[in-house]
Amino acid sequence: MLLSTPLLEIKGLTKGFTGVLAVDHVDFKVGRKEIHAIIGENGAGKSTLCKMITGTYSMDDGQIYMDGKEVHFTGPADSMAAGIYMVYQERNLISYMTGAQNISLNAEVIKGVVVDEKAAMEKAEEIKRQLKVEIPLEVEVEKLGAGEQQLIEIMRAFSATPKLLILDEPTASLGEGEIEPFLKFIKGMTTQMDVSIIYITHKLEEIFQIADKVTVLTEGKVTMTAEIADTSQNKCVKAMIKSDKMKEFAVPVKDYEDLENNKLLEVKNVNYGGKTYDTDFYICKGEVVGFYGLVGSGRTEAMETIAGIRSSDQKHFIFDGEEITSGDSYKMISKGMVLTPELRRNGIFPALNLIENVCSLYINKLATKLGMVKKKESAVFAKTILDENDTKYASINQKISDLSGGNMQKIIIGRSIRVENLKLLVVDEPTAGLDLGAKSEIYVKIRHLADELGKSVVFISSELEELLKTCDRIYVFYNGNVVKELKREDFSKEVILGYTLGGVRSAREAHA
Ligand SMILES: Nc1ncnc2c1ncn2[C@@H]1O[C@H](COP(=O)(O)OP(=O)(O)OP(=O)(O)O)[C@@H](O)[C@H]1O
Ligand SMILES: [Mg+2]
Repeated sequence: MLLSTPLLEIKGLTKGFTGVLAVDHVDFKVGRKEIHAIIGENGAGKSTLCKMITGTYSMDDGQIYMDGKEVHFTGPADSMAAGIYMVYQERNLISYMTGAQNISLNAEVIKGVVVDEKAAMEKAEEIKRQLKVEIPLEVEVEKLGAGEQQLIEIMRAFSATPKLLILDEPTASLGEGEIEPFLKFIKGMTTQMDVSIIYITHKLEEIFQIADKVTVLTEGKVTMTAEIADTSQNKCVKAMIKSDKMKEFAVPVKDYEDLENNKLLEVKNVNYGGKTYDTDFYICKGEVVGFYGLVGSGRTEAMETIAGIRSSDQKHFIFDGEEITSGDSYKMISKGMVLTPELRRNGIFPALNLIENVCSLYINKLATKLGMVKKKESAVFAKTILDENDTKYASINQKISDLSGGNMQKIIIGRSIRVENLKLLVVDEPTAGLDLGAKSEIYVKIRHLADELGKSVVFISSELEELLKTCDRIYVFYNGNVVKELKREDFSKEVILGYTLGGVRSAREAHA
C-alpha cells in the first residue's frame, strides 16, 4: 500500500429517495490525518452521503475504497469493523446511563445485554487518558452539558480504533465557550493520532480553524473541493448559496419611553426544581429580546416555567396586564404565548408525517366540533407553511424524521409564527443547524413579527453574534439568575461575555 493512497475514496456515489436525488454521483477523497470539511445548504445531501459511507444507507450507484481496496458495507457494524465511526447529527446517548456505560455500548465489555461495570469504567478511563479529556464518567449523561455529551459520543468511537471519524454538525448544540476547546481537541487528535476526520458543519469560521480541505455540496453534487489554504469564506459561501438567499435587514431605533409603557410580560422571580431564582426582566410589545448565557444558565428554564411547560411550586408574573399564578402550557398558548423548543428536544413527533407535525399547534383550528381532524384543510394549511418556509420535502405525507435536520427546524419555527392570536413567541436556539440563507430568513421573520406586527419575541441563543445583530435588548443569565440587562445602544461583546462567566470577571475587565 502506497502512503499516497487515500484512506477513503468514493467514486460516483449516488442515492435517491422518493422524489429527490439526495446524492448525485459524488467523488471524494480523504487523506491520512486529514480533516476534510463538508459544507452545503440544508438538504444538500451531507448526512446522506456520510450514511452511505458507514453503510447505514445502501447506495444506488458508486464505489467506496478504503486503503485502495473496494469495500461493501451492509450496515454500521461492517464499517466500524473497518475503522469508520460516525457521530450523528442527532444525539445518540442513553440518557439515564453514565458516561462510562454509554462509551462501552459499542465495546466488547457488554456481555449479552449486561454491561460489565468495572470493565466499562476501566475502558472509559483508558480512552479518557488517550484523548486527554477532562470529563466525569460516573454521572448519568443527562446531567452533563451539551459539549460533554458530545465528547462522550466521540470517546465511544475510540472504544475501537477508528481510522476515520465522521462528525455531523458536532458544534450545532454547543455553547460559545464550549466550541473553542472542542475544536482544539479535534485538531489535536489528528496531529497526535493516525486518524482522519470528515467534519460536517454550517459554521464556516470553524473549518478555517481546523480543516485541511473543504468540499461543497449543492443539491447532491460536488460544486467545489479545495485546500483550505487556497480558498476563502467568501468563495465557500459563493459555491454554496445563491446570492438571493441571503436576506438583509436593519433593526430600527426604539423610543424606550414609548415601549416601556407597553409591557407584555413582567417577571421578578421564577421557581422551578424547588428553587427560586432572581429573574427581574420584562418584555415590551414589539420588541425582540435576547437571552444569553451558558448552556444550563437558566435561560431556557425560566421561559419554560413561564410557558407552563416546566412545573413550578409558586408562580407569579404579569402577562398582557393580567396576573398569572397558575396554569399549564395550554393556558399560555390560548393567551398567545408560544414556545418553540430546541430541535433536539421535543420539537417534533418523529413518527408522524409532515401534516401532523405542522398542524400539531393548531388542534382547535383544524378539528371539527366532534374532535375529528379536518383532513383537507390540514393538508392545505401544512403545504402553505412548508412552502412559506422554503422547506425541502418530497411529500406532505412523509415522516418528518426523513427530512434533513435543517428542514425540520424550519417547520418548527414556521408553524409557531402562524399561531393566530400570537403575542409572545419564545424561540430556543432557532438557528442551530440551519445554513446561512435559512438563518438570515429566521432573523428577518423575527424582526418582521416585532416591527410590522407588533408582537414580542424572546430569542434564546448560544450564538452571541446573532443576538447582537437582531435584538433590541439582551438579558444575560448566570446560575439561574438575570445578572445584566443591555439596550441595543450599549451592546458590547466583552461586557456580555464577562457577565456570562459570572459578573466578577466582567467588573474587573470593565476597570482594566
Ligand atoms: N430517510 C429519508 N427518506 C426520504 N428522504 C430523505 C431521507 N433522508 C434524507 N432525505 C432527503 O434527502 C435530502 C438530503 O438530506 P440530508 O439529510 O442528507 O441533507 P443535509 O445536507 O445533511 O442537510 P442538513 O444541513 O439540513 O442536515 C433531503 O431532501 C432530505 O429530505
Ligand atoms: Mg444533515
